[in-house]
Amino acid sequence: MRSVKVYLDNAATTRPDPAVIAVMTETLEKTYGNPSSTHAFGIEARALIEKARKSIASLLHVSPAEIFFTSGGTEANNTALFCSVRDLGIKHIITSRIEHHAVLHTVEELAKNDGVEVSYVKLLPNGHVDLEDLEQLLATHEKTLVSLMHANNEISNILPLEKVAQLCEQYHAFFHSDTVQTMGHYPLHLQETKVDFVSCAGHKFHGPKGIGFLYINSKSRIRPFIFGGAQERNMRGGTENIYGIVGLAKAFELAHADMEIHHTHIQELKTYMIQQLRMHIPEVAFNGDAENKSLYTVLNVSLPETDMAEMLLFKLDIEGIAASGGSACSSGTSIGSHVLKAIQVNPQRPSVRFSFSKYNSIEDIDFCIEKLKEIYKSKVLA
Ligand SMILES: Cc1ncc(COP(=O)(O)O)c(C=O)c1O
Repeated sequence: MRSVKVYLDNAATTRPDPAVIAVMTETLEKTYGNPSSTHAFGIEARALIEKARKSIASLLHVSPAEIFFTSGGTEANNTALFCSVRDLGIKHIITSRIEHHAVLHTVEELAKNDGVEVSYVKLLPNGHVDLEDLEQLLATHEKTLVSLMHANNEISNILPLEKVAQLCEQYHAFFHSDTVQTMGHYPLHLQETKVDFVSCAGHKFHGPKGIGFLYINSKSRIRPFIFGGAQERNMRGGTENIYGIVGLAKAFELAHADMEIHHTHIQELKTYMIQQLRMHIPEVAFNGDAENKSLYTVLNVSLPETDMAEMLLFKLDIEGIAASGGSACSSGTSIGSHVLKAIQVNPQRPSVRFSFSKYNSIEDIDFCIEKLKEIYKSKVLA
């Protein structure tokens, strides 16, 4: 049995905070009424949901009526995209080749089945969206929805959200941003940022899986994606995941309460790892804009060519280190990452995504560097 386990796959999912587990357990035990029931049990459950919605809305500076709980980031993205085309007269979507599959595959469906025209904005060599090309696309198309993620889950690049929102406003386009990797990690002031839809998944900031929300700007009225009962003010049928909602709100509150502390701590880990890798692994490089406009929780490392590239993640796992090759959806190797392919990363070099959380320490990074040094023994600098 291995004794040390280091979890560096926090962009895939995070460990739930004990305080989140506590409120969820309590809710599961005590508040089992159906929130749609009119008796006291139902009213108690409804009150918890509305309290959670209010708390989330106030942290984002929006109205509670603009927060709609979903089963997570995928459903939030699907809702924004499908419903915009159906209800807002969208005929053209601008997105990028490095979006999460929850956006890319949805857009492909809309192109195939609904005749939506899709433009993939050009990317700069460092993986950032080419804003000039975006403006050009906006200027030459009407009835457009822009769907661009706030931070990329594989290469960590951050989109200038304000700037893109301004461009969308200028050209009368709707704007959806997949904020799944930044929610709970950066403050968002959605009254000031002119965005129509943003998506959130609770499990990316120490909350539960299977719960998230879609913020829908009250000016951008869409109809349901999931039809059924009158839940979520007629916007999403299905009995609410009440303990998930309560856990999500708790995680969101905790994330905001200590955001600066966690930001500083995690950024230190990332910077330290970059330094250590440069010091000990020759020819190391970083995919994306790792040291500039970059999500502090993610570091995508391009390692020297080796004949056991395919085995690298497996070897790290054997040593007790959990990391990934791309998004959690890819099979564990960097081969097949549509994001790395889109930014033309050399496929001969193995890429590993390390992603950090408040639960990681400098010792975790040291341990990981030691193991990488062992794997790259022959190439390690003296
Ligand atoms: C950027 C991004 N969007 C969407 C998702 C999907 O979220 P969920 O797993 O909650 O459906 C993820 C999670 O992997 C993600 O990283």
